[in-house]
Amino acid sequence: MAMQLDHVVPFGRLFEEYRTMFTLTPADLQGSILSVADGPAGFNAQGTSLGYSIQSVDPLYGFTAPEIKQRFDAVVDNIMAQIANSPDDWVWGFHKSPRELRHNRERAMEWFCRDFDQGKAAGRYAVGELPRLAYPDNSYDLGLCSHFLFLYSQQFDRTFHINSIRDMLRVCQEVRIFPLLTLGSQPSPHLKFVIENLTNLGYRCEVQTVAYELQRNGNKMLSITSP
Ligand SMILES: C[S@@+](CC[C@H](N)C(=O)[O-])C[C@H]1O[C@@H](n2cnc3c(N)ncnc32)[C@H](O)[C@@H]1O
Repeated sequence: MAMQLDHVVPFGRLFEEYRTMFTLTPADLQGSILSVADGPAGFNAQGTSLGYSIQSVDPLYGFTAPEIKQRFDAVVDNIMAQIANSPDDWVWGFHKSPRELRHNRERAMEWFCRDFDQGKAAGRYAVGELPRLAYPDNSYDLGLCSHFLFLYSQQFDRTFHINSIRDMLRVCQEVRIFPLLTLGSQPSPHLKFVIENLTNLGYRCEVQTVAYELQRNGNKMLSITSP
């Protein structure tokens, strides 16, 4: 079904946030990276400007940059008010304050909008969606998924999660997913099932503590490597 923009919260993160959430080392960044559900992040734009090879995929890329920005502008005040009203749910480490968080989301959107047309023409932003990616087997060294899988556990069931992650593993040698909390900052109810299922198939699953935490207790990343 075609994506409806008014159902989306197009919040994107900066390259430095991705680097910290996924503990990306210089060696990781030298490989080919597929960023799934990449949305209006600055990761591809900033990473490309640093010389890295990043492919982004998201159903959102069927819209234009001005349409995505318009939707961001329509929801940002409301989201920031929700955050301000629940101060105990957030950790002000990477972003020092709600004000800085908003500024960083705006910066990510600016990077994305400036890059989107040329990046889409170059094939760096592709329309596509989980649970099935349109890439051949073993096309990328590393697959990333920031703030989609596990976060939307209420909206997407465990079958969707396992099918999506297995398809990312078909395409990528290693997959990393962050965070492992739901939108309500609860541990995802699908995590145990996913880890058991993948471990039984011979994949190595490791939950790592990372230096990025915005949702309180949301400082865990799942790394999965192929047998
Ligand atoms: C909260 S945003 C995260 C954007 C980016 N990864 C980041 O962390 O800055 C969630 C993204 O998931 C995308 N999305 C929704 N359904 C999807 C699906 N079935 N497959 C892949 N991405 C999807 C949305 O379009 C949106 O861009």
